[in-house]
This record gives sequence, C-alpha cells and structure tokens, in this order.
Amino acid sequence: MQKLVEVYTPTSEEFYWTGDDNEKKGRCHLTTVIATFCLLLLFYYGAQYLISDKDDFEGETKSIHSEIFIVEQYGIASSWRTRSEMLSVDCSLMFDSKGEIPRGKPMSEHPLEMHCDAVRSRVLPFRSADTGFPIAFTKAVYMDYELLEEQLTLSYALENSFCFAVDKKAKDLFKRRLRRLALCLPNVFVLDEEVEMDRHGHYQNQVHLECMRKMMSREWKYVVVLQNHDIMLKSHGELSRIFAALNGTSDIEVTSCSRVRCEPFLDTNVERLKLCPPSSSCSSARLRWAKGAQQSSLSRDAVSFILDHLNVESLVRQLNFLNEGADEILLPTLAISEIGFPGGYTAECLPKKNTFITRYSRWRDNFTRCASGKLRHYICILGTGDLPFLGRSYHLAANKMMPQVDYTAIHCISQLVFNRSRDLSSSIVRENFYANIHAVRYNRYLANIDNETGSFVC
Ligand SMILES: *[C@@H]1O[C@H](CO)[C@@H](O)[C@H](O)[C@H]1NC(C)=O
Ligand SMILES: *[C@@H]1O[C@H](CO)[C@@H](O)[C@H](O)[C@H]1NC(C)=O
Ligand SMILES: *[C@@H]1O[C@H](CO)[C@@H](O)[C@H](O)[C@H]1NC(C)=O
Ligand SMILES: *[C@@H]1O[C@H](CO)[C@@H](O)[C@H](O)[C@H]1NC(C)=O
Repeated sequence: MQKLVEVYTPTSEEFYWTGDDNEKKGRCHLTTVIATFCLLLLFYYGAQYLISDKDDFEGETKSIHSEIFIVEQYGIASSWRTRSEMLSVDCSLMFDSKGEIPRGKPMSEHPLEMHCDAVRSRVLPFRSADTGFPIAFTKAVYMDYELLEEQLTLSYALENSFCFAVDKKAKDLFKRRLRRLALCLPNVFVLDEEVEMDRHGHYQNQVHLECMRKMMSREWKYVVVLQNHDIMLKSHGELSRIFAALNGTSDIEVTSCSRVRCEPFLDTNVERLKLCPPSSSCSSARLRWAKGAQQSSLSRDAVSFILDHLNVESLVRQLNFLNEGADEILLPTLAISEIGFPGGYTAECLPKKNTFITRYSRWRDNFTRCASGKLRHYICILGTGDLPFLGRSYHLAANKMMPQVDYTAIHCISQLVFNRSRDLSSSIVRENFYANIHAVRYNRYLANIDNETGSFVC
C-alpha cells in the first residue's frame, strides 16, 4: 500500500471533494431527472436565501478598511472559543492514545454577523503576540468560511499577513463573507480576480504567486502555502521558532516526477523559459523535474527570487496543460534545478524523498484504514482518532480535516494549539529536529558551515 504514496501525490485533490459522486451515471427517466433537478435547485436557492438573509452585513462601506481601530479594546482571551455544538466535548481526553476516543461530530452552521465589529470580536481576542518573526499565509479556498475564519484566528498576529485566492465557482455568500473579512482586518487580503481552480491543481500556482506578490509590501520572513482544508498544528510562536531553525531554507517536498507525468510534454530549456536570472551562468542548464505537495513554506528570499529574478510565466503556463497535479511541479522543480534558488535542494538525492514538514497527510488505499472511516482520493479525512498522533506531530498543518465530517477533531487540535500559544512551556517543538532536515543540512553543506567533507549524505 505504501506504494501508492509514490504514484499519487495529489495535493490538488482538495478541490471539490464531492466531485466523484457526481460522476456516477445512472439510467433514470428523463422526467424524474428533471423533477429532481428542479427540486434540488429550489432547495439550493432556498437555503442560500435563508442563510444569506440572516447574515448581517449591515451598514458598512469600503472606507472601513482605512479606519483605525484599537486592538486592545477587544481584550485577550485565555481559552479557545467553544461553539455550542462542542460544549460537551472534553478535548483533554482526546490526545491519549490509550483511552477510548469518541467519534467526532460535524460543525453546525449558523448565520454570522459580518459587520466589522463582530468580525473583529471573533478574531482579535485570540490573537498571538508578535514574535518579531512575522509569517505570511496564502490559501486557495472555495468553501467553509467559518472554518477559514477560525483557522485565521488561530494563526492571527498583528505582524502576520494572510491572503486568500477564491475559486470562481464558490458560492456568492462565501465570497461576500471572505471579502468582508479582508475589509475588516488590515493584514488580510483577498485577490480581486477569481479564477476557476479544480482538484487537478489548475491555476493554483498562479494564484499563490499573485497572493505572495500582494503581500510583498508587508514584512514577513516566511510564507506558508495552504489549501482550503489544511488545519494548523502549530501556533504562531511555534512557527516562528521552526522557521528560524530552517535558517532561510524553504520547505518544499521533493519526489521524482515520473517520465509519464512530466518529461514528454515539457520544455526544460532554462534560457528559453526565462528561468536563468540575468547575472547568472545557468543559461545552458536544463530543468530537473520533481514533484511534491503544493503546500510548502518559502523563505522571503526564495519568493523574491521567483517573483523578481525569474520570469516563471511560461513555465507556469506549460504546467497548466498537465491533466493532473498541475500545481505539484513548479516549486519542487525550481528548488532542485541549477538556477540558484536560495535555500533550495538538490536533484542528486532523487528518488529519495526529503523530509517535508509543512503538511501531514495519511495516505491509504482503503477507508477501513482511516481512523475516521473516510477516505478521499487516497487520503484519509482525519478525525478524533488521529488526534494522539497530530498532537505530537512535527508537521505544521494536517490535510485534510473537514468540518462536515469531524469538527470535534478540528476543535480539539485547535484548542491544543491555542493552549500552546498561551503557555510556551507546553510546546513540544524541538528546534534541533528542524535544523537537521535534509534541505537545511544541504544548505549548511553548500555554505561549508558543517565539516562535512566530500559529498552530501542524502
Ligand atoms: C544560517 O545562515 C547564515 C547565512 O546563510 C549562516 O551564516 C549561519 O551560520 C547559519 N546558521 C546556522 C545555525 O546554520
Ligand atoms: C478494505 O478492507 C476491508 C477490511 O480489511 C476489506 O474487507 C475490503 O475488501 C477492502 N476494500 C477494498 C476496496 O480493498
Ligand atoms: C486547554 O486549556 C484549557 C484550560 O486551561 C483546558 O481546559 C483544556 O483541556 C486544554 N485543552 C487541551 C487539548 O489540552
Ligand atoms: C569542525 O572543524 C573545526 C576545526 O577543525 C573543529 O574545531 C570543530 O569542532 C568541527 N565541528 C564539528 C561539528 O565537527
């Protein structure tokens, strides 16, 4: 079964997890089909209307963005927010693998007050203190606004930056809420342009790069690239310490890209692709293909290199022609090709994978092997049964956790992370581990800091 890990690295499978179900074809009478369809439409728009009608977007205009508000007035919460459906849950029992861990429950949706004071009251009390090591987040999103707001809350610090890229196909209410969130908080952005993303990764490279560009005006040292249902496992304070330990190295998953997947279609000429920075000697180099998760953590130097020194447009355009995993090639390939990517990695170690910390996924070939009993595109939807592992994991985020499947798990891991943000002594981060993952060691080796002689040991 482990083999599957090699074959599939779909990170882009995030999008439209119900997609498969729609593909089932049945033979029904035309009238039944039409009647059902009409009924569904009625329900859909009815529900949309009811929800949006109750959402309170009252009396605010765009000018709100420039309004100065006093952060202190929102206070500082000492415990994580508990939604009504979670009142009976005791999270402290969920992280002990020896105990019986109860099955989780879904999140129930409620109308939301969306005027700025309400939005800020939900986010600001849970903020983390600034660490002097600001972090940016870029996330491609299409559903579950309340989850996204909650995740933002968990990572929120005034020094941080957040950018969302919205799928064009997302519901109007979702888009309105997200745009309002960005209006109410000065360090939150939503890309104006909405493109059609899908679970094969199309257009995701573009939107993440666009988000990074948009956030360049703010100060940050690392940017974390995430998808809709990635759930944070580390607090802002912990992330700052982890990224400090990476010391400029980017965390990008690097695995082999099969001949079938990459090579036949694609141009590898660095010069033709405009991937050789002006003052470098790499013009005769060829790209070395690799693939990995879209999720990654890039140092600011790496982002400046991509945005200001390379012109990745034509590579991004050609990758968009791939049928699947269109978002899995760009960063791993740039990181290992000989174009001077700062804090990158090497093709010499392939096919051995590097240690990758940004995202944890549980790959399985059978839903019975998932703690939640739910499997999507060979990745388990994580649930309460995974909490003992997630509580100890070195990863920064878990993919994927869904509020419709098991919100209890999301609530409890978030509570744990929040607790750690308030009490540093409870943190389990070992900087020494992060300072010695493959890519970080490789960059130390390149800089000749270690006494490693001869070749780098993969
Ligand atoms: C971090 O990187 C800098 C510059 O690349 C280097 O001078 C320094 O020694 C590195 N620190 C560690 C702990 O490797
Ligand atoms: C999944 O695992 C169960 C129990 O091990 C087995 O009965 C079932 O046939 C498996 N399904 C598939 C599709 O492999
Ligand atoms: C977090 O802290 C609160 C209050 O100190 C405690 O009740 C709760 O059990 C803690 N949660 C976890 C997951 O440890
Ligand atoms: C590296 O070499 C220097 C000088 O030879 C030595 O003093 C130092 O202890 C060595 N460091 C390690 C980590 O081996």
